[in-house]
Amino acid sequence: MAAQTETLVASDVKDIALADVGKRRIEWAFNSMPVLQTIRKQFIKSQPLKGIRIAACLHVTTETANLMITLRDGGAQVVLCGSNPLSTQDDVAASLVRDYGIPTYAIKGESNDVYYSHIMSAIDSDPQITMDDGCDLVAILHSKRREKLDGVIGGTEETTTGVIRLKAMAKDKALNYPVIAINDALTKHFFDNRYGTGQSTLDGVIRATNVLLAGQNIVIAGYGWCGKGCAMRAKGMGANVIVTEIDPTKAIEALMDGFRVMSMADAAAIGDVFITVTGNKSVLDREHFERIKDGAIICNSGHFNVEINIDALEKMSASKREARGYVDEYSLKDGRKVFLLGEGRLINLAAAEGHPASVMDMSFANQALSVEYMVKNHKSLQKDVFPVPEDLDRLVAKMKLDAMGVKIDKLTSEQEAYLASWSEGT
Ligand SMILES: NC(=O)c1ccc[n+]([C@@H]2O[C@H](COP(=O)([O-])OP(=O)(O)OC[C@H]3O[C@@H](n4cnc5c(N)ncnc54)[C@H](O)[C@@H]3O)[C@@H](O)[C@H]2O)c1
Repeated sequence: MAAQTETLVASDVKDIALADVGKRRIEWAFNSMPVLQTIRKQFIKSQPLKGIRIAACLHVTTETANLMITLRDGGAQVVLCGSNPLSTQDDVAASLVRDYGIPTYAIKGESNDVYYSHIMSAIDSDPQITMDDGCDLVAILHSKRREKLDGVIGGTEETTTGVIRLKAMAKDKALNYPVIAINDALTKHFFDNRYGTGQSTLDGVIRATNVLLAGQNIVIAGYGWCGKGCAMRAKGMGANVIVTEIDPTKAIEALMDGFRVMSMADAAAIGDVFITVTGNKSVLDREHFERIKDGAIICNSGHFNVEINIDALEKMSASKREARGYVDEYSLKDGRKVFLLGEGRLINLAAAEGHPASVMDMSFANQALSVEYMVKNHKSLQKDVFPVPEDLDRLVAKMKLDAMGVKIDKLTSEQEAYLASWSEGT
């Protein structure tokens, strides 16, 4: 549905009447984003992004809204589209349009065609900076909208999967401008991927199913940053956690963290709830559905909906029905039932609200400061993928600690000299 009154900025949101609720929720999240609050105050004064056009393709959540407002207050002209068809919070999208004048193209449950048309609308704004989550915006810009490429001076990328895709583009010399990998900042993946995904993924499973986790066998596929978070939180709720991995070192880490590790083929037969967080495809596949327990719950919290082979599940099923919101019941031809959550899309954003604001505070502080850095430094950067500068990463950590009222020690000059010296051993 297009925006309904002439005074509104161009947009495609579900219902502008949802804006009142969205505005209150955006303000609520901002209370837990003290680092972004400080950056916003600085941006209002110094206007580092004055006149810069930014196209952002991010999950349209309350936290993202606060990032968009911060960039706008720094002088940027921002256009936002969703980075996943099921992750948009429709009330937030409505408020961004009505209350903050930020053109937004995102509707929860949109078809793939509408999803891509929304990305096209963001690209139509002739961005100088792209801000992506999963690399779909960048991929479309480089394939279908190449005429817009020359105007782009740089970009940022939020998530692991997007950084992997960008590095592949850079390796093939296909990337046309420098991009900062926000995900690789320590103040991003240590906290957002681990504690954010850990908590919100279980929140998504619980909201969708109301299942009791205590005593259940929960299988976590992938023991990376997100997987560690999910495993840690599931254990805390009394689940028996089983980890599957393809990386021997991560598998040992999971074992030494106290989890059982086995192949998915073995886990399939005993798991009650399965969560994939690998960034890979077909991690739960036909061979696993052949062994899976009757009544198993399966879901994904990795970026794309390819981690569970849904086509294979469809083909093995005699029927499918919606058991409750975000829960599809597949009845296999042999009578077993398998429950797929959130159509295999990021369950924490589909069925819950995504990461808590307090953790997105650091991720989005990295985004805001990195955009400022890119605007200042893009001329000296090659067409490649760059880390967040270490001083910015440390600054975000320092600002977060300050906001939490936590003091830490400083190196004395004697300690600094000791650490810098190779001759002093004792
Ligand atoms: N749900 C969210 O809100 C959210 C937040 C951040 C990241 N992500 C996404 O989650 C995914 C994982 O991110 P991460 O930061 O944990 O990545 P990571 O690289 O730290 O971890 C991925 C792990 O999966 C393992 N793996 C790969 N293929 C596997 C397979 N077939 N079976 C078992 N394990 C396998 C890898 O060895 C690795 O240890 C990415 O797609 C990322 O974009 C989602």
